[in-house]
Amino acid sequence: MTRLPVLAVAGAMLALWNLSAWAQDAPQDPQAVVFQQQCAVCHDNPATRAPSRTALKAMSPDFVVSALTDGIMKLQGSALSPAQRASLAEFLTGQKLGAQAPMAGRCQGTPKPFSLDGPAYNGWGANPENWRYQREPGIAAAQLDRLEVKWAFGFPGAVVTFGQPTIVGRRVFVGSQNGHVYSLDAAAGCYWWDFTASADVRTAVTVARIGARHVALFGDRRGHAYSVDVATGKTVWKVTPDDAPSVQITGAPALFEGRLYVPISVGDDSAAVEKRETTPLKGVY
Ligand code: HEC
Repeated sequence: MTRLPVLAVAGAMLALWNLSAWAQDAPQDPQAVVFQQQCAVCHDNPATRAPSRTALKAMSPDFVVSALTDGIMKLQGSALSPAQRASLAEFLTGQKLGAQAPMAGRCQGTPKPFSLDGPAYNGWGANPENWRYQREPGIAAAQLDRLEVKWAFGFPGAVVTFGQPTIVGRRVFVGSQNGHVYSLDAAAGCYWWDFTASADVRTAVTVARIGARHVALFGDRRGHAYSVDVATGKTVWKVTPDDAPSVQITGAPALFEGRLYVPISVGDDSAAVEKRETTPLKGVY
């Protein structure tokens, strides 16, 4: 009875040895080895929040590189050279870097002058009291079951969406997982501009008039807060309110009496996962 477990373990070890001998013989893409060594502990592990191989494949290679270079995978990417990050991103997505066609769907002509007047849902709570209530929805409850899709807008290279859209001045302002913020035409669904942040933008956007111009205010997951000119889509300012490592902004900044209040969080759970998970796994290898 006491010998049985020992034999079972020996048998399992033999099977593992055979498997690894086979793996060494099979020709393998060097990037598959990098993925196995540097990423698989989380990305091939459904117990973590890390996107699966299928989800990574749906991303654009440029997005994967920016995640590893300056995004939320910066820590994991720091073990790789820029050339290695590029090769790994191309391997994971099956696409060449920089080969993507410019995004279709840009609005044509000149937009009407922007105004904050009219029906709006501006920012996370829609008003400073955070009512989250639309006073002028433009439709009645009885019409809800007759709604039809008018347009749909896809975020290139992104696989999930987080940011709550802000609707104001006949525009939709929305951030995305691919690190872009779009100013869409609410009626047509085309985009007037496409702003590139340093990481994914999960916050709602607050649109306000400050001085002579209208600006869009939001934060990204590398801890930057932005003010972007609504007329041009160009940066007015970009700041890092807190320089702690792994700082993130996922809550929407709120504007009140000329001050922007920016909620900060620290997202070092992927570093924590590394500490928790590599230790027990050593025993398996
Ligand atoms: C210690 C665990 C861990 C390791 C190792 C790891 N990742 Fe991740 N990765 C995560 C988690 C967790 C997320 C999801 C984070 C989130 O959305 O908050 C993630 C997200 C990502 C994303 C999406 C980024 C985004 O902004 O949505 C990419 C791309 C990625 N990882 C690539 C990689 C690559 C390539 C490697 C190997 C070089 C790697 N990761 C190694 C845990 C890990």
